[in-house]
Amino acid sequence: MEAPLIPASLVFRDGTPYSPRHDDIYHSAAGALAQARHVFLDGNDLPARWRGKHGFTVLETGFGMGINFLATWAAWLDDAHRPPTLEYVSIEKHPFRADDLRAAHAAIIDDAAIAPLADALIRAWPLLEGGVHRRTFVAGAVRLTLGYGDAADFLPRLADHGVAADAIYLDGFAPAKNPDMWTPAVFASLARMAKDDATFATFTSAGIVKRALIESGFEYRKLAGFGGKRAMLAGMRASSPRVITS
Ligand SMILES: C[S@@+](CC[C@H](N)C(=O)[O-])C[C@H]1O[C@@H](n2cnc3c(N)ncnc32)[C@H](O)[C@@H]1O
Repeated sequence: MEAPLIPASLVFRDGTPYSPRHDDIYHSAAGALAQARHVFLDGNDLPARWRGKHGFTVLETGFGMGINFLATWAAWLDDAHRPPTLEYVSIEKHPFRADDLRAAHAAIIDDAAIAPLADALIRAWPLLEGGVHRRTFVAGAVRLTLGYGDAADFLPRLADHGVAADAIYLDGFAPAKNPDMWTPAVFASLARMAKDDATFATFTSAGIVKRALIESGFEYRKLAGFGGKRAMLAGMRASSPRVITS
């Protein structure tokens, strides 16, 4: 039996969706889609990295309003050299109600190519019941797996089910505001699911994240952040994983 879900409440702070529960904004005030492209797509070198592959899997921590999903789907559609399938696996502890998601999208989506994808997502939006929900788009070529529940429970379950990620989007609110999304256990699960050539990207460059990345076998580099943030992190599995002796 899954634990009952507590949906997110739609609140705006200075025009940007904000979570009173976590006291943090969902996206940079400088633009949700622009942040998705800068941090998560460019940070994982997409679309270049999916070219020539038979399929490509993105794993995300924190689905939120699905902006990263929509930006990734649009980039995939736009790429003549895209892989035949795009798998997108994400987890969310506090999903929005469909009406709130629609209102949030109306406020923040400023791209005509994305709007129909957002409509399709809302039409397919699962009931707010804990557990795994699967949805397909583009005649089954784009596959969304949404785990409604806590990262601490869901990530090990996804790993047990053999999820194998080509790219990882770390997007779970700021570590200082929401440490639950950045624990060593979360990173250990992500490392289990990362393919040998997997990459990751995140908007934050907090020390706790850098340490967790190193401890779980990733190497990172600092890149220019988005929307006034000095730095973000991106990287891949470490070529010589650190040996932990104690
Ligand atoms: C910054 S938002 C994600 C934005 C999203 N990636 C997008 O593109 O719209 C972070 C999300 O993580 C979710 N979250 C926070 N703590 C969580 C946890 N312990 N387990 C699962 N999801 C969590 C929040 O509810 C929120 O939707």
